[in-house]
Amino acid sequence: MATERTLSIIKPDATNRNLTGKINAKFEDAGLRIVAQKRIKLSMEQAGKFYEVHAARPFYGELCEFMASAPVVVQVLEGEGAIAKNREVMGATNPKDAAAGTIRAEFALSVGENSVHGSDAPETAAQEIAFFFSGLELVG
Ligand code: CMP
Repeated sequence: MATERTLSIIKPDATNRNLTGKINAKFEDAGLRIVAQKRIKLSMEQAGKFYEVHAARPFYGELCEFMASAPVVVQVLEGEGAIAKNREVMGATNPKDAAAGTIRAEFALSVGENSVHGSDAPETAAQEIAFFFSGLELVG
């Protein structure tokens, strides 16, 4: 399997509860390398742009408000099959459906406040990484 990069976001519910280190340990224990990382506070406009693909969904407003409510940690994870591996480590979107031991099973509060985001495909990973990071910030 090829080495890939994926975009990960540690969401406000997790940064508020000081869970960044525990979540990063889950990534590293699974063999994912954090090759770029920064803590930022999104504006409503930035959150709206990032989640534009969900603009027609009923939860879009709530999602953007939540993502802009407190700092997030944006990061690039690298590893063999990193996109699928990260989604496995995160668990299902709704924590009620997430497998035991996954980040969302252990830490998420609800389907909205679900602690982490991860890219879902190679094309979206490339777009989402470029949304937050310049090439100069990706040193491997
Ligand atoms: P994420 O992987 O960041 O991608 C889109 C997000 O929308 C998703 O995680 C959830 O946090 C959020 N989401 C999905 N369904 C709902 C819902 N029914 N209510 C609120 N938020 C949702």
